[in-house]
Amino acid sequence: MSRTVYLNGDYLPEEEAKVSIFDRGFLMADGVYEVTSVLDGKLVDFDGHLARLERSLSELDIEKPAAFDDLLEIHRELVARNNVVEGGVYLQVTRGSAGDRDFVFPDPEVVKPTLVLFTQSKPGLADSPAARTGIKVISIDDIRWGRRDIKTVQLLYPSMGKMMAKAAGVDDAWLVEDGHVTEGTSNNAYIVTGGKIVTRDLSHDILHGITRAAVLRFAREAQMEVEERAFTIAEAQGADEAFITSASTFVMPVVEVDGVKVGSGAPGPVAVRLREIYIEESRKSAI
Ligand code: PDD
Repeated sequence: MSRTVYLNGDYLPEEEAKVSIFDRGFLMADGVYEVTSVLDGKLVDFDGHLARLERSLSELDIEKPAAFDDLLEIHRELVARNNVVEGGVYLQVTRGSAGDRDFVFPDPEVVKPTLVLFTQSKPGLADSPAARTGIKVISIDDIRWGRRDIKTVQLLYPSMGKMMAKAAGVDDAWLVEDGHVTEGTSNNAYIVTGGKIVTRDLSHDILHGITRAAVLRFAREAQMEVEERAFTIAEAQGADEAFITSASTFVMPVVEVDGVKVGSGAPGPVAVRLREIYIEESRKSAI
């Protein structure tokens, strides 16, 4: 069945939502996005996603396309119209279309941003079979640009990384720069070693995950020790546990890195517990 999507002020059947061939998102990957997960038909961590969207837009000098309240209303309307119980809402803002191709940004007084939202229904998001077995990853070079803290739609290399993982018969790839893991193709990466949860510290090198912030907060509240620092693939292979976080996977155990089992080769207790806490708390606070 056709979804209802949102484009620049209108709710439309997906077949009727059309964007110009001159849109800078299409020509230049000049746009940013957010993915907000939906549990029980409600939005998880909406304020966090909106705050990061505002930051991404301001770092790129793209005008905010709508007020916070309007964006919340659009998210809720799409979830309701498409009967999404578990899944996500994808939001994208591009710098818009100047009606031609030019490297120079168009005048923001004249060219307005393009705003697109659509839902993705994913039953089984919380009770995920993958979370019971854990996932396997390979490592690949991180050759992305230097502002990974901005959530841009330049996702070609992460897509290539997923294809490299697929070709290697595993689920995902961890990106490595200067000998250290930055993050996963579309998630933040963690290990559990020496009784501590270790994950890369925040900088321009990684996306500041909204799930990461929540999970670290819950971990600290549960008296787990957290260390924000870089780690190597060898350290991950020798760790007790590994896992990833994102809006689309929540907390997902990682059981193999470059063909080497992590810990027992099964999801570890810290990852399993954090997943439970994250889902439980998210259900409570979703709006
Ligand atoms: N990806 N790092 C990268 C490179 C990401 O693309 C993502 C999210 C994350 C986790 O961020 P958050 O916890 O805010 O989802 C980390 C989304 C889910 C995507 O591209 O579909």
